[in-house]
Amino acid sequence: MSAIVAPSILSADFGNMGKAVQDIKAWGADWVHCDVMDGVYVPNITFGMPMVKALRKYTDQVLDVHLMITEPEKYVGQFCDAGADIVVFHPEASKDVQGALNIIKSKGKKCGLSINADQPFSIVEDYLDQIDVLLIMTVQAGFGGQSFKEEKLEHVRKGAAIKKEKGYTYDIEIDGGVCPANSELCQNAGATALVAGSAVFKAENPAEAVKGIKR
Ligand code: DX5
Ligand code: ZN
Repeated sequence: MSAIVAPSILSADFGNMGKAVQDIKAWGADWVHCDVMDGVYVPNITFGMPMVKALRKYTDQVLDVHLMITEPEKYVGQFCDAGADIVVFHPEASKDVQGALNIIKSKGKKCGLSINADQPFSIVEDYLDQIDVLLIMTVQAGFGGQSFKEEKLEHVRKGAAIKKEKGYTYDIEIDGGVCPANSELCQNAGATALVAGSAVFKAENPAEAVKGIKR
């Protein structure tokens, strides 16, 4: 099965987001990756539930919402109601990881956890039997356009080994500095979904970039 490509709208034109999500489909990509930042968990602010709700009207593709916010348990339900299909958050930012996962599941949506570049794999270990997406960051969360930290593939390999050993079915999503040149490396390590912001939106030919990342 070929990899899922999830372009991050963080690198799109914020004045034309409806078109950006329609472009994502036209370019042959799969999920729409929505990077939500609160200026507290990360030193940057992007957008919140109203954007997800607005985008829902423009696309039937999977809205893959990556929450880089403190106390995600307070907001995950609202992101589900806004139209997210997948809601992923960072466990160390939460006071109630299980509670947040339960809310997402109770809304009938897919749930995921993310390991930031400065975090150990152990922060997700207790939850691997119940998540749909394990998101591994290959940059420190906060900004698009950073360079890929190859050493973080270790987390992807570990996630893939546990998945195989235990028969889990979660997607392993990789996020940060992904481009056609490193996509083979990511997929060989076990990544099944690849996020790409600048490599798609800043490409001369985005459809070619999506194809190059998918392989
Ligand atoms: C970083 C975000 C990423 C980012 C990816 O905090 O989570 O999704 O937008 O952008 P690129 O592909 O440019 O690194
Ligand atoms: Zn992201």
